[in-house]
Amino acid sequence: MSLPPGFIDELRTRVSLSQVVGRKVTWDMRKSNMAKGDWWAPCPFHQEKSASFHVDDRKGFYYCFGCHAKGDAVTFVKENDNVSFMEAVEILAREAGMQMPARDPKAAEKADRRTQLAQVMEEAVKWFRLQLKTSAAAEARAYLDKRRMSPAAQDRWEIGFAPDGWHGLFNAMTQKGIAPELLVDAGLCAKPDDAKRGPYDRFRNRIIFPIRDARGKAISLGGRAMSANDPAKYLNGPETDLFDKGRNLYNQGPAREAAGKGQPLIVAEGYMDVIALSEAGFTATVAPLGTAVTEDQLRLLWRIHDEPVIALDGDTAGFRAALRVIDLALPLLEAGKGLRFAILPQGLDPDDLIKAQGAPAMKAVLDAAQPMVNLLWRRETEGKVFDSPERKAALDKTLRAALKKIADPSIRAHYGEDIKRLRLDLFGQNARPFREYTPRAQGGAGGKAGGRFPFQPVAPMPSTRSSLLASSTAPVEELLREAVILATLVIHPRLIHRFETALESLDCTGEGHGLIRDLLLAHADAPDPRAEIAAAAPAPLDAILSHPHVRNTPAILDPSDGEKAEFALAQDFFILQAERGRRREIEEAAQDIEGVVDEGLTWRIAKANEARAEAHRGPQDKTGEAVISPNGVALDKEELEEARKVYDSIRFERPNRRN
Ligand code: UTP
Ligand code: MN
Repeated sequence: MSLPPGFIDELRTRVSLSQVVGRKVTWDMRKSNMAKGDWWAPCPFHQEKSASFHVDDRKGFYYCFGCHAKGDAVTFVKENDNVSFMEAVEILAREAGMQMPARDPKAAEKADRRTQLAQVMEEAVKWFRLQLKTSAAAEARAYLDKRRMSPAAQDRWEIGFAPDGWHGLFNAMTQKGIAPELLVDAGLCAKPDDAKRGPYDRFRNRIIFPIRDARGKAISLGGRAMSANDPAKYLNGPETDLFDKGRNLYNQGPAREAAGKGQPLIVAEGYMDVIALSEAGFTATVAPLGTAVTEDQLRLLWRIHDEPVIALDGDTAGFRAALRVIDLALPLLEAGKGLRFAILPQGLDPDDLIKAQGAPAMKAVLDAAQPMVNLLWRRETEGKVFDSPERKAALDKTLRAALKKIADPSIRAHYGEDIKRLRLDLFGQNARPFREYTPRAQGGAGGKAGGRFPFQPVAPMPSTRSSLLASSTAPVEELLREAVILATLVIHPRLIHRFETALESLDCTGEGHGLIRDLLLAHADAPDPRAEIAAAAPAPLDAILSHPHVRNTPAILDPSDGEKAEFALAQDFFILQAERGRRREIEEAAQDIEGVVDEGLTWRIAKANEARAEAHRGPQDKTGEAVISPNGVALDKEELEEARKVYDSIRFERPNRRN
């Protein structure tokens, strides 16, 4: 279907984004400013407690400072309802009272066909559920009773029964006027090879589990045999126009809702586990549909939760399944997204464990879930002996190959770090204990009198001067960025709440910076936070605000432009965090040099530098290089050039700029 020119624009002006979004989120009224069309809420696209999801109602644009989801009303409906672009346009057009243009007949036919198939599926679900109440289903009810699924739970999960016969469903449905072709296309009936005979029921003498999509539409069925002798314990509906196995998850809709309310997202192996976990209170549980977890399903999981927990049967098959998921997940990892693995006791699945030991035992297993890196390590090391340099080198090689699959450089660096720690534990003999990076002393109270420039660049350790590390940058850059962040917040105190989480975790290294940070947080709601800070810490405040670098920052130069400040802050926080990660890598590497020579050293530094370069590309593919300023500190020309570029990019590449 093609839309007439201007249709989408018209749609955008007619619908209110805050209304569309408002149905899915709870606004943070403290942060929001309705009069200005400025709305804030916990992000519907990722799991969070704070409100970093921003809707600019006037521009019809949203942006999440946490997961960087962004777009307009159409993208929102598309992502949130998991529908196609056109479907999203249709939903919104209906709401806005706009007439959709005539559809492309082919696409319309296909959509109508899907609607028909879904109706047929719904009819079938009803019929199967009715069958479970009949006398023919006595055995099925006894089976469910044996599995301790209460009648109430059976209703909640819409459990049904397919009687033992070849045409029960077929006859019932065709009597209702449903065409045999639709039953076949919905996957409910199958056609025999011998074309002379008509379609027959696919599910026979099985317990039926309806499968619904994210929006609650019935799309397929799973069927469990009641006898242990049945060659196929579970039978799942085939792929149809309605059912794409690799893009759906069992219990997706309810799990998404529960995860949104703070439940951990659990990925179990099958229907019965999802039901047992949900009934035991772990309501955000899903399972793949008779296939191994796919890439699409992983992405789907990450849209629901930042860190899904994969619950694995405590047997070798379960472990192997985990390893497959790891290989799938490594290239897809991005900042903030991860996986954990909960390993069940040998021979038990979640359903068994809950039955045998109750929900608290399951909770204990979930609480003990391990991060993915540990499983990766186990895969490469378990049951192997590393008693020679060759074997150790071989291990390093495989680990490195695994790490190479991680596309995100900063995550790759962190994985490298964890692997290194595990490696030191394993090859303990020449390994001094792993040194965690300790942040430099926090900026304390007070400050130098007279507004003297308080930044004292930390002298690099002697070992960091080695040529390998020549590319490292002195932390003075970080101090400057820290000062810019604090000063921007002093000038634009309305932004304090928006960056509260980031600010709280900001390690302040500059003198007096820690105090300013604490004062900002303490006086966020004061009528004039700047006055409060000026009264409590005049010298550090003056030192920060009067610094030439700070004074020349665009967000400070133009105190009226809150948006510019907000955008610059998001970027500054992001880059600072990445810079610190890089420096920590390099400092650790330097410590390593003093001790035993680490063969992975050059590699790690290269990674760290890559991560840094990546960070400077900005939070959303923004181009630009290091920000460093014209100030008392000697900096080379190249860096100055780069700083200008970043400022330019901040000014000209704002995604939702108006004028
Ligand atoms: P399991 O064999 O682990 O079953 O298969 P389960 O969930 O513990 O089931 P119960 O407790 O024995 O009833 C896990 C999932 O693998 C798929 C199904 O989706 C099942 O839920 N499966 C299993 C099949 O598709 N076919 C099979 O024959 C077996
Ligand atoms: Mn089971």
